[in-house]
This record gives sequence, C-alpha cells and structure tokens, in this order.
Amino acid sequence: MRVSNNLSLFLAAGVTAQSVEPETGKLGDATIVSNNPVGVVYKAVLPAEAWFKPAYPDGGNIEGEITATAAESGEGVVYTYKLSNLPKEGGPFPYHLHVAPVPSDGNCSVTLAHLDPFIRGENTSCNPFGPQTCQVGDLSGKFGEIRPETDGTWETTYTDLYSSTLEGIGAFFGNRSIVFHYPNKTRISCANFEKVEDGDGTSVTILPTATTSLGGSNSSFTIAPTGGVSTTVGGGPSTTTTGGAEQPTTSAPISGANGGVRGSLMGVLGLGVMVAFML
Ligand SMILES: *[C@@H]1O[C@H](CO)[C@@H](O)[C@H](O)[C@H]1NC(C)=O
Ligand SMILES: *[C@@H]1O[C@H](CO)[C@@H](O)[C@H](O)[C@H]1NC(C)=O
Ligand SMILES: *[C@@H]1O[C@H](CO)[C@@H](O)[C@H](O)[C@H]1NC(C)=O
Ligand SMILES: *[C@@H]1O[C@H](CO)[C@@H](O)[C@H](O)[C@H]1NC(C)=O
Ligand SMILES: *[C@@H]1O[C@H](CO)[C@@H](O)[C@H](O)[C@H]1NC(C)=O
Repeated sequence: MRVSNNLSLFLAAGVTAQSVEPETGKLGDATIVSNNPVGVVYKAVLPAEAWFKPAYPDGGNIEGEITATAAESGEGVVYTYKLSNLPKEGGPFPYHLHVAPVPSDGNCSVTLAHLDPFIRGENTSCNPFGPQTCQVGDLSGKFGEIRPETDGTWETTYTDLYSSTLEGIGAFFGNRSIVFHYPNKTRISCANFEKVEDGDGTSVTILPTATTSLGGSNSSFTIAPTGGVSTTVGGGPSTTTTGGAEQPTTSAPISGANGGVRGSLMGVLGLGVMVAFML
C-alpha cells in the first residue's frame, strides 16, 4: 500500500478528502486492472477526413481502426492497430487516450487532455520502463510512437495493464477517444471508442449504489442512499483496483480526488456525514 493512512470527513457532497501522498501521480502509480470484462470489444474507426487538414492537402486521413479488448485473463487490455495512409512526413506520431469523446463535428480539441486518472500531468515524459508511472492514456509513451512503414502503414498489437474496459473506474476508456498527434502536439485526427461486442454475458457492470458526486471523484466509493452503513472495497466485486479518479470534464483541476486509493472502506454515518478510512 502506497498511501498514507488518511482520515477525512465528508460534511456534504462536494467536500472531498485529503489527497494521498504524491508519488508519480498525485494519486500514486497507476494500478493494474485485473478484472477487465473478457469478450467485450471496443473499436475506434478513424474518420474519412483529418481534423488537421494541412496533413492531407488533397483530403483524406489516417485510415483504419483500433480494437481493444480484455486479455484472456482479464488483466490488461489488448490493443490492435491496423492503420494506413499515415502522413508521409512529420512523424513519429504520438497518440493517446483522451478524456472526452469527439463531438459530432469531429473537433479533436474538444477531447481535452490525456486520460490521467492518477493525476500525473505531463511535466516529465513517460518512462516506458516504469509504465505504472506514466499517464494511463499515454499509450505511445509506454509503447512507442508510430513510425510508419514506407508505404504509410502501421500495424501493431500490445497489452496495456493500466487502461481499462471496466466501466465505472477512472481508467475506463470505452466512452472516450484516441487522438493522433504530430510531435509538436498538433492533433491530426481522433476517433471515439465504441462497444462493438458485448461479451458472453459474464461481463460485470459495476455501479455505485448512489451517484452522489464527490467533487469530481467517482467510482471508488459506495454511498448508501439512505444514510445507513455501507462498506465497499475498491468499487468492484472481484478486485481492489479502482483505476484512479474520475477525470474532469472541463480543464479545471480536480480538487482532492480520491479515486486512486485502493481498498477504500467507506462508512456512511447519519445524514451526509461520512468518515472515510483509506487503508
Ligand atoms: C506541427 O507540426 C506539423 C507538421 O510538421 C505542422 O504542419 C504544424 O503546423 C505544426 N503545428 C504547430 C502549432 O507548430
Ligand atoms: C474546436 O474546439 C475548440 C475548443 O472548444 C474551439 O476553440 C475551436 O474553435 C473549435 N474549432 C472549430 C473549427 O470548430
Ligand atoms: C507542472 O509544471 C508547472 C510549471 O512549472 C507547475 O505549475 C505544475 O504544478 C506542474 N504540474 C505537476 C502535476 O507537477
Ligand atoms: C466515462 O465513463 C465513466 C465511468 O466509467 C464516467 O464516470 C465518465 O463520466 C464517462 N466519461 C464520459 C466522457 O462520458
Ligand atoms: C460515475 O460512474 C458511474 C458508473 O459508470 C456513472 O454512471 C456516473 O454517471 C458517473 N458519475 C459521474 C459524476 O461522472
């Protein structure tokens, strides 16, 4: 356990806990998600036209798709890329999971920042030998930037242990986007993930018993709706992984997010007064 013992009072929804000891991210290292739902498949298909038109002066875009599905064990997510028509110049191309989805007008700027539920930031670049210290969404930081073949194609597959197809945790990307950049961060193109296979019926959906907002955090707490006592460990039935905090949906910073704490034990006492023991 990497967090300090932490006793916090929640006097009302919106009052948040002390943050844990900073480590690599403000919430520590990213945690391995070991119960991704096997059989559930997400896919992102790039649009016909690039967002950054100068990349394709004659029209067109990076072509192809990215599929993502839990590894057979449920530990980690296997990403498969089949891309072609990559820009002939200007690489190598970084790419990341971004917090917000692409709107219908295709504006890649609206996808906001990288998926970063442990609040690591980008001040230091990702060390691929310590992937748990990288932003969860920094896939090219962890696995290398896109260096296309001379024919403009790029195909690869790998397993990332920190991003997740488990709905309800901060590291979940199934409702988010992937963005392809030039090295100077200009966004070339972006696409949303969509669920294309539901699995075999054994997939788990984890929902809190109430959706009271904790100041931007989400998913690692169960809040008893009636004010009775409720305990939960890690937000899910078969794991202690929380996958980090919920992400901001604006560029405003998260205040006191709690979601990276493992094994939160939550008691709800009385009306709106909650005491959290972070183990
Ligand atoms: C980023 O790099 C691309 C490709 O070299 C270039 O077209 C674009 O203008 C650059 N963007 C900025 C903001 O410099
Ligand atoms: C794209 O979205 C950004 C951020 O909301 C906005 O500033 C920009 O004007 C939009 N660009 C276009 C072409 O709509
Ligand atoms: C990144 O650096 C900026 C400028 O030095 C600083 O204000 C910010 O707090 C840093 N962010 C993190 C997450 O360390
Ligand atoms: C994505 O799903 C998570 C739950 O896993 C949710 O908390 C978050 O708000 C969703 N994000 C968007 C952009 O819909
Ligand atoms: C928190 O996550 C749950 C589970 O996915 C989702 O239904 C809910 O909308 C999220 N709440 C917030 C405030 O993002």
